[in-house]
Amino acid sequence: MAESSVRDFYDALAGDYHLMFADWDRSMARQAAVLDGLVRHRLGERPHRILDCACGIGTQAVGLALRGHEVVGGDLSPVAAARAAAEASARGTRLATVAADMRALPFAPASFDVVLCADNSLAHLLTAHDVTRALTGMRRTLRDGGLLVLTVRAYDELRRTHPTATPPQVARTPDGRAITFQLWHWHEDGERYDLEHFQLVPAAGGWQVRVRRTTSWALTRAQVTRLVTEAGFTDIMWHEPDTGGYYQPVLTARRGGRTRRGTPGSGRPDDKGGSSRA
Ligand SMILES: C[S@@+](CC[C@H](N)C(=O)[O-])C[C@H]1O[C@@H](n2cnc3c(N)ncnc32)[C@H](O)[C@@H]1O
Repeated sequence: MAESSVRDFYDALAGDYHLMFADWDRSMARQAAVLDGLVRHRLGERPHRILDCACGIGTQAVGLALRGHEVVGGDLSPVAAARAAAEASARGTRLATVAADMRALPFAPASFDVVLCADNSLAHLLTAHDVTRALTGMRRTLRDGGLLVLTVRAYDELRRTHPTATPPQVARTPDGRAITFQLWHWHEDGERYDLEHFQLVPAAGGWQVRVRRTTSWALTRAQVTRLVTEAGFTDIMWHEPDTGGYYQPVLTARRGGRTRRGTPGSGRPDDKGGSSRA
């Protein structure tokens, strides 16, 4: 799928993105608590300079800024990035954002202590070449010893079962409930799928149906590990939801520096319907 169609998908979704959460502010706080714990455990207690390179409307970036980190948000979607900055400001914190493609990050080498790419954003890159471009740029942007944090959908099982839909996610709005679900159409390779993203929002006497389409690559943990290794990272660890407390598997890795193995941060699984999703 062309880059512009991913941007169009998220530009169109940006205003409704929070409807995928039962309570977006609560999810932001929970996710930030887990990621903050992970980062401070690995890098030390002081606030860190964090690049969230697929910040969307700020689900992780705003929460991490509220926890005292200096956060910069980048996203392919200028509409989502602008909303992230506005949401941060509305909550009394600052988030600098930029419309940027994670395959061509516009930052000087060694600018950040942490590069974060959360909620399965990597799955929008559909080739190993593109994932490698992104990971290589993330590594270049990290200082020596800096931490890469990727959160991805748990695709290993899904690659075996090839589900055709996701469970509904229900959010309350002032006008009633809004429902989000996806239909998945698997490619012949068994790895990629086109998704139709449905949102049903209350409208006078019934529902308004909003449908947006994009494509994802269902990367297994082994595939992600291999690509991260090939990009030159070390000390690669997976933090699973049942032990790490994040609602998706989280990969951490280092740019150079020390190679000790740490313990995952603590916290509770998050929602967006209780299951991981793109
Ligand atoms: C599932 S959303 C997650 C957004 C955010 N992390 C959150 O949890 O709210 C995926 C995000 O990845 C962004 N994205 C997709 N391809 C990208 C690329 N090549 N460079 C930067 N961002 C990209 C999308 O615009 C979208 O905001």
